Formats: sequence, C-alpha cells, structure tokens
Amino acid sequence: MERQPTVAQAPAPHVVFLPFPAQGHVKPMFMLAKLLCHVGGFQATFVNTEHNHALLQRTLAGDLPPGFRFLSLPDAVPHDREQQQSSISTVRELFNSIRNSKPEFRRLVTELSPTCIIADGIMSLGFDVAVELGIPVIAFRTFSAVCAWVYFHLRDLIEQRMVPIPADADMDEPITSIPGLEGILRRRDLPSVCRHGTPPPILNFFLRETESMRRASGLILNTFDGLEGPMISRLSTIFPQIFAVGPLHGLLSNIVKEEPLTASNGGLKEEDRSCMTWLDSQPSRSVIFVSFGSLVALTEAQFVEFWNGLVDSGKPFLWVVRSDSVLGEDEVPSSVKVLSGLKGEEAHDWSRCCVVDWAPQVEVLAHEAVGGFLTHSGWNSTVESVLAGVPMVCWPRLSDQQVNSRAVSDMWRIGLDMKDTWDRSTVEKTVRELMEGRRDEIMKAAVEMAGIARGNVEEGGSSYCNLEKLIVYIRSMC
Ligand code: UDX
Repeated sequence: MERQPTVAQAPAPHVVFLPFPAQGHVKPMFMLAKLLCHVGGFQATFVNTEHNHALLQRTLAGDLPPGFRFLSLPDAVPHDREQQQSSISTVRELFNSIRNSKPEFRRLVTELSPTCIIADGIMSLGFDVAVELGIPVIAFRTFSAVCAWVYFHLRDLIEQRMVPIPADADMDEPITSIPGLEGILRRRDLPSVCRHGTPPPILNFFLRETESMRRASGLILNTFDGLEGPMISRLSTIFPQIFAVGPLHGLLSNIVKEEPLTASNGGLKEEDRSCMTWLDSQPSRSVIFVSFGSLVALTEAQFVEFWNGLVDSGKPFLWVVRSDSVLGEDEVPSSVKVLSGLKGEEAHDWSRCCVVDWAPQVEVLAHEAVGGFLTHSGWNSTVESVLAGVPMVCWPRLSDQQVNSRAVSDMWRIGLDMKDTWDRSTVEKTVRELMEGRRDEIMKAAVEMAGIARGNVEEGGSSYCNLEKLIVYIRSMC
C-alpha cells in the first residue's frame, strides 16, 4: 500500500523530463519522474536518447506507474555497439547528437504541450525550447548543492585569476571568495574543469550551462536539508523555488512500498549479483567496497597501485571493474588484461576479494558486511553511501567530484579525502585509517548522518515535504 503525501487533487499535470545522457544523470531523473507519477498522479514523458532508451529497457524491473511513458531522440551511436554501458566516449557522442536534436525536441514538445519541462542543469537545449515555446521549465542539477554553488562562482574565480589553475599553482592555496565556503576549499577542491590543461571550450561549456540554468523558474536537487541546509539556502538567493528532495532512492522506497531500497532504478547496465553471495560470507563491517562510478577510468599504473594498496591493507574488498575501467586502446579491454596479470600472481589470497563488472551498488552499500566505500565521489554514490551510513575514502577525478570529496571529509566528516594521490602505501594507509585508526569517530558521524537522511525522507521530513511542495508548484502551472 502506498503512503502518499496529501496534495489537493486537480487535473494531472504533464511533465517532460530531459536528462543528460549519462548514467549518473539518467538515474536520479528517472526516480524523480516515477515519484511525480506515483505521488502527484502526474503524466511523465521521459525523453532519452535511443541508445540509453535501449539500455534502460533491459534493466527495468516491475511495472512503471500509470502515466509514465518513454520517448527517445535519435542519436549517432551505432545500434550494434556491444558496450552495455555508456562509456565516456559514448556519452560524448550521445550528447553531441542530442545537442543537434533541438528541432526534434521542439517538435516533440510542441505536440505534447506539457505543463512544464524538467531539464538537467547541463541541458540548456531544454531551457531554450521551453523559453521559445513559453513553457515553464525547472532545472534538475544532479550535483551536490555545494558544487552547484561553486559553479555559480566560476566566473568570479576567473576574474580573480584563480581559474584556470596555472600549471605551477599552489594547489593548497585556500579559496576565500566563495561565500559560505571560506576555510573549506583549496584550489585542488575546485571542479576538475578549473584545472590546468582543460580545453577552454569545456570550461566555457560549464560557464554557459550554469548561466543558462538561471532561466529556470526553480531548481531541484538530489540532496537534503540535514546535509546541505546552509548551501541550499544560499542557492535559494538565485532560485527562490528550490526543492531538495534527496536522497531520491530513499524517498522512493519510503513512499512507494513496492519499490525496495535496492530496486535498480534507472540503471543502464545489468548488475552482477554474484557479489552478494560473496558478501554473505564476509564478517560484519569488514569489507571495503571499491567503485569509481560509470565514467572514471584509471591508467594501468594507477590500477596496479590501488590493487596493491588494497591487498596490503589486509581488508577484504569488492571492486567494480568495468570493461572500460582501465585506459587503453587494444581490442581486449585493458582492465581484463591487467586483472588477468594480477590473477597470475600467486601470493594473494583470492578469497579475500571479489571483482564484478557492475554491482547492485545500493544493495551492496546496505549489506551488513560492508564497512567502507572507496569511491570517486560521484554525487549519486555519495548520497547512496550517506543513506547507508557507510564511511568513505574519496578519490575524485571528474567534474563535481573534487568538491564533493572535500565536503565529505571537511564539512560532514564522514570520510577521508585522498584526492590526487594513488601510490599503494597511501591507499593502504588511508584504507586502514578508515577501517581501524579513525574508525570510531568517522563511523559515529556517518551513522548520525544516515539517521538524519532517513528522517528527511520520512513522512513530515524535509525532502518529503519538498516533494509535496514541488507537486503543488507544478500543479499551480496548470
Ligand atoms: C557523474 C558525476 O560524478 C556525478 O556527480 C554527477 O551527478 C553525474 O555524473 P557517475 O560517474 O556516473 O556520475 O557517478 P555517480 O553519480 O556516483 O553515479 C553512478 C551510479 O551508478 C550510482 O547510482 C551507482 O549506484 C550506480 N552504480 C555504480 C551501480 O549501480 N553499480 C556499480 O557497480 C557502480
């Protein structure tokens, strides 16, 4: 039986959802669309690229709520491409195709004439079409509030010549000009696009997209007041209509009883569940789960250092190694080659590790055996870990991840930030610190934050109430 927030009944609004075509963006947007159908009785049209649509169909489990349907925009990715997942090059191709699909999207929106569009914060195409057609548009930024706030200050940082970061800059120099983050951020904690060597068009892309978001009438975030209240209120100076409705997977499983917390919602890749049996055989809170999300790839040298650091830590570990996890150009994916090389080494006790291509991550994090998460600090992974009360070792690489990892270690104190280092002894030392040395202090903070997260998604909690407010807000557009 579903518990539903009390929202006055009126004709069903129709929302068109436009996600950015990558795993970490499709997933939270998909959960939001489901929630609005389940709770608000909305109609949802979820617009994917053809490639991602095909991937999503393979992993969908259970019924979609009434009123939910898919439409897809054409893309240039060959249909016979074997990759199950969108690697970073595929994401680039998908994004370029979708950018060129503006006339198609405009035609589609004109035909549907929805109540509003909810577009990813880096899909300005959605804002362009909405403004042209006079349809209300709300931005959904799949980042943390703290990172969204940093992006709104990029232009200032450029004017102050802090960004782009010069090659010889002191990366530990504090950033003092972002209100609310004084004493927290250093140069190395700025989004990766600020770093030396980033092609100017990429930095400009993020500047433009961030500015473009200002055309939205509201902002939705997959975060919660208990974690990011102060940053959310700062963002409300830009977006008076702001809705922090995270962690979305927690909210969904709380409100819709048929949706277990572990449901794979919006995943683009089939999960290998064999690791759950392996986890069952491990002692409580002993395992370190290692996953660098859907896009981050390591060099072979980095991979070997991580491997040895984990082995030397003496902790059992479960590592998600995608076929494109190690950079390389051969036909045989480098990760397969590197792994088989490591397996040839006899000294290691193989019962102490488990490697899968893609794990049921939310379920893994909720497993009793998992005691720590070595993560790239993608925002979905971060909120999933927070809700599960699992402390983190952070090794950020791309985009928002540098900011998130600093917040995890120095704002919320629920993990350790290992950014920019990957030698085996640092990996070993940091894993030991998390699992032994500073265990009690970090675990206490993580458990407390998990309790706050659960409270925020429960009936009457802030995320729950914000979902109700979002529903009322969209209904008011009818
Ligand atoms: C990136 C960004 O870093 C992120 O902050 C942004 O909001 C979206 O793009 P990504 O690299 O995909 O995201 O990481 P993350 O945001 O953590 O999302 C990965 C998702 O894949 C998570 O929901 C995670 O549960 C899922 N996953 C990952 C699995 O289901 N199984 C796995 O084995 C690994």
